[in-house]
Amino acid sequence: MPEPRLEIEGLDGRYGTAHVLFGVSLTVGVGETVALLGRNGAGKSTLLKAIARVEVETTGAVRLQGQDLTRLMPHRVARLGVQLVPEDRRVLGSLTVQENLELGRHAAAPDRPAPSLDEVVSLFPTLAPLLGRRGRELSGGEQQLVAIARAMMGRPRLLLADEPSEGLAPAIVRQVGEVLSALRTQGDLSILLAEQNARFALDLCDRVYVIDGGRIVFGGRPEELRGERELERRYLAL
Ligand SMILES: Nc1ncnc2c1ncn2[C@@H]1O[C@H](COP(=O)(O)OP(=O)(O)OP(=O)(O)O)[C@@H](O)[C@H]1O
Ligand SMILES: [Mg+2]
Repeated sequence: MPEPRLEIEGLDGRYGTAHVLFGVSLTVGVGETVALLGRNGAGKSTLLKAIARVEVETTGAVRLQGQDLTRLMPHRVARLGVQLVPEDRRVLGSLTVQENLELGRHAAAPDRPAPSLDEVVSLFPTLAPLLGRRGRELSGGEQQLVAIARAMMGRPRLLLADEPSEGLAPAIVRQVGEVLSALRTQGDLSILLAEQNARFALDLCDRVYVIDGGRIVFGGRPEELRGERELERRYLAL
């Protein structure tokens, strides 16, 4: 296994009095793509937000290459190279695609300068002709690509992608999948991919965790999960 980039140990997460994550432990290696699968309400978004230090209160350890993130403000975590692509995408409707992408640049760490716009757009050929288009004039799939591209403008070490395939037509899901597989080969980027769409995520990942009721119930290789009929039936929509 590659050296760990993200290490989570015994993480509990709460929204006020609502206890949502229970003793979560997982790792994502340098250059690894790891899927986090689970049904509606399983705790996927909560776990990604807990890593990015937004909204969720936590106890337990979250380390990025050995550095504890749990006492840091969200912008500091972003500057260390953690980029969250949120479930609702948050593409700004009144700004152009190019302006949305430029916003992502502010997250780049001082020791890791932001890539050029051209560098990022070359990874997202669909966006090249759309740079002057307003965010509100994009389809859902195009918005998803903008959200991922904007995160890449911050030159992440760890990309946290929250259900990028959600609500997209199959042809567009394929396109998002192609972009994510291209990103897998970008330097030593690590990706934690939260998905309900197991088929989509299992094709893209090196390892997989399943979360249910805020607890990790499986961790292993995609081919091991594919053989676990009972797990598939109980926790996944396969
Ligand atoms: N802001 C919040 N305040 C209180 N409870 C919340 C909040 N957000 C989520 N929850 C609860 O936390 C649990 C986990 O939710 P979470 O959004 O992490 O699930 P998920 O796996 O991302 O689901 P989905 O696939 O539907 O996005 C659910 O029971 C949900 O109701
Ligand atoms: Mg979610």
